[in-house]
Amino acid sequence: MPSHTLLGLPSYIKINQPQTSQENKARNWSVNTSLGVNYKIVESKDLFAIENRNLLFLDGKPSKLPIRRLVVIDEKVYSLYREPIHEYFDAHAVELRILPLPISEPEKNWGAVERILEELDAFKILRRDEPLIAIGGGVLLDIAGLAANLYRRGIPYIRVPTNLLALVDASVGAKTGVNFQGYRNRIGTYYPPLVAFLDKTFLRTVDTRQICNGLGEILKIGLVKDRELFELLEKHGDLLVTKRFQGPGVPDLVIQRAIQGMVEELEPNLWEKQLERLVDFGHSFSPVIEMRALPELLHGEAVALDLAFSSVLAFQRGLLNSLDLDRVFKTMKILRLPTTHPLFCKPALLYEALEETVKHRNGLQRLPLPTGIGSARFFNDVTFEEIEMAASTLKQR
Ligand SMILES: NC(=O)c1ccc[n+]([C@@H]2O[C@H](COP(=O)([O-])OP(=O)(O)OC[C@H]3O[C@@H](n4cnc5c(N)ncnc54)[C@H](O)[C@@H]3O)[C@@H](O)[C@H]2O)c1
Repeated sequence: MPSHTLLGLPSYIKINQPQTSQENKARNWSVNTSLGVNYKIVESKDLFAIENRNLLFLDGKPSKLPIRRLVVIDEKVYSLYREPIHEYFDAHAVELRILPLPISEPEKNWGAVERILEELDAFKILRRDEPLIAIGGGVLLDIAGLAANLYRRGIPYIRVPTNLLALVDASVGAKTGVNFQGYRNRIGTYYPPLVAFLDKTFLRTVDTRQICNGLGEILKIGLVKDRELFELLEKHGDLLVTKRFQGPGVPDLVIQRAIQGMVEELEPNLWEKQLERLVDFGHSFSPVIEMRALPELLHGEAVALDLAFSSVLAFQRGLLNSLDLDRVFKTMKILRLPTTHPLFCKPALLYEALEETVKHRNGLQRLPLPTGIGSARFFNDVTFEEIEMAASTLKQR
């Protein structure tokens, strides 16, 4: 490791010292500023009930009248909630422009960002007082966040997640992005919203497979850092799926613990300076495989397969005992998550996926593996032979 100078440059880089004569004096400027980040994640039941004024406020203060809002919304969600949305904004005399977008993972591309940028320009949105409102699943939120970040170098935006994965995961962090050249989220930024409003009543219209998809990300948190969350899923998983998280008690507790776990991991490391991240569990082999399998595998399903595969790796290393490994697989079955897939049985592809992850993690595997239910450690030395063995175990599961 090179030592560093005061300017933060490695010591082998020499900066010309200022000349003594006044005319030739070379100067250096060091700009040192910091960006305070403060965004909120707020449970807000019945967001479009007329008496709920959350979407009219800006930074906790009432917006200046007249209120204008540009809403970017997943087309499917718009078809389901068109009426309450229009009634709500009409009742509050909001000048509304809605951009419904046909959205899916294959359409998470630069074209979709451009479409939003065009609309922002046509709406002549005010740079500070008129937040863009993004309503939809993780794909819509990621695309809209990127557009908000790029337009006039950044305008405020509000996230309204409408399915489980977006509610517990894509709404919690600061990341935006689109896929590029066949790679997931290859273009993206860190740009948190003003606020994310969580209204789980949206989950009533989400289909079962999408609920299970979101449960893949919740299981991840339970497995690597929250044993009690894992046990809630183990015990109540079936009801959570069939009741779509409606009703008080366990459904709220599960959502709250999942978000709490995410916040604890993200807040001290929002810009990912530290690349050993527990939240990357399930995201080591899956990014390449998810893209290869498109549109067959959903994001949370690919994450779940990665959890299963990584758990087998952990078992082979003696980190996870056979009882706990069985619990992981049983819980995945309760949550109706896939536990095997042909692409997760191909050692060469899995190794290629890991190599891609090593690049993303700056040269080391930094692979989180469970060391029991609710705990994990990082490893940098997983071999091709171990991957081969785990792939053949997964084939038989
Ligand atoms: N930014 C982040 O930190 C972060 C974190 C996790 C995942 N993500 C991203 O999220 C994406 C996956 O998100 P996703 O699984 O939500 O996919 P998605 O956005 O494609 O949504 C999945 C489906 O759910 C439907 N849907 C959404 N709300 C609905 C509702 N209330 N009723 C009925 N149907 C509804 C959508 O129309 C879509 O068909 C990936 O691209 C991933 O990269 C981002």
